[in-house]
Amino acid sequence: MITITHESLAEFIKNAFVRGEKPPEQFPEQNEKICPDCARRYPGNLNVCKSEGTVLVLPMQLLAQPQVLLDALRNSELAERFVARSYLGQGLLCNVFEGLSVETVEPVAIKVLRHELADDKKTNARFVVEAQMWQALEHRNIISVLETGLIPELVASGVSEWFIPWGKNLVHDRPYIVTEHLKGINLKTVLQGYGSLGPELTMRIAVNVLDALHCAHKHEIIHRDLKPSNIFLVPDEEGRIDVKVSDFGLAARMFRETEWTPQTTKTGSVYGDPSYLSPEYLIEQKTSARSDIYALGCIMYECISGKSPFAGQHEFHTMIRHVKDKPTALPKHLKVPDKMEKAIFRAIDRDPSKRFDSAEHMHEHLGSLLTGVIAR
Ligand SMILES: Nc1ncnc2c1ncn2[C@@H]1O[C@H](COP(=O)(O)OP(=O)(O)OP(=O)(O)O)[C@@H](O)[C@H]1O
Ligand SMILES: [Mg+2]
Repeated sequence: MITITHESLAEFIKNAFVRGEKPPEQFPEQNEKICPDCARRYPGNLNVCKSEGTVLVLPMQLLAQPQVLLDALRNSELAERFVARSYLGQGLLCNVFEGLSVETVEPVAIKVLRHELADDKKTNARFVVEAQMWQALEHRNIISVLETGLIPELVASGVSEWFIPWGKNLVHDRPYIVTEHLKGINLKTVLQGYGSLGPELTMRIAVNVLDALHCAHKHEIIHRDLKPSNIFLVPDEEGRIDVKVSDFGLAARMFRETEWTPQTTKTGSVYGDPSYLSPEYLIEQKTSARSDIYALGCIMYECISGKSPFAGQHEFHTMIRHVKDKPTALPKHLKVPDKMEKAIFRAIDRDPSKRFDSAEHMHEHLGSLLTGVIAR
């Protein structure tokens, strides 16, 4: 087994960042317009309908495209403070753009709720409230939120009011969040590159994530969507790695109490990545701080072994395994300290009452195993 050191991971992240974490996503071509009167389709370079001379509009699904949004955000400052520059990618919830603060010229990340999800005033407002709660969390292991609010749909879609064929009253303003832009890589990409990280690095990352969770839980914020793509590793000048957790509470709007039916989740009626969903969420759609601890336990197991503890042949199978199966012991050749393995299995106990009762408690437990190793 290759032992991955802290230094080699820092080097890996730096190189991958220089290479570009992943190629920028290809924007779909804007090659089509439609006539709002007769619904005839035309190539994108034409502007009026042949029959009546009606001005052609962009098809509705095109307004959902990140390219249209990026053009709009390049041309109008968000909260008079931020402008977008390029497209970073798309998650389950948001399109993400790289941008700049007009005041400080510092790079920022602009996350905008995807067009197809911004379909209901109540849940959009809730998204902004959750983002404001995340904004209130100031912690070195939590990505800082700089601004949040709503982008009027007419701005987001980049066209004038009467260009929108289905009427102004049917479109909803789109929530956005501006955060610091990280020159690092998320843990999902690291795991894709390395396969696994070994016990020591896993513990270092975990204690930092626990610090972040402790801060959030103190403020009564449950993450609800803790997964490797929401954990960023950022090397500093001296080669140390900062761990930063993103997307606190944003998934809340996807839960049943919002009466919102998710459309983009790959699994149908539940939201989130099945590998990290707790049994209590899957059975009763209830979550607590201990659900975050459960997700972290799953992430630690995966970081060490390269495989999530309840990995199934397909997503539905994975969800059933969370509820019914016991995870298999970690392979002996990985040489995971006994106490650490016990801590992971305690975190992923099906019964929330048997897990660590707080992130602080789990931190203390892991910290005592790492004495002298955790620098920060
Ligand atoms: N603050 C940031 N700095 C730099 N890149 C970011 C930042 N936030 C997100 N990204 C990048 O933008 C892309 C989309 O991120 P996003 O959080 O929307 O997706 P996700 O975590 O995969 O899914 P989800 O919507 O479930 O959180 C990813 O490639 C991510 O690394
Ligand atoms: Mg994310």
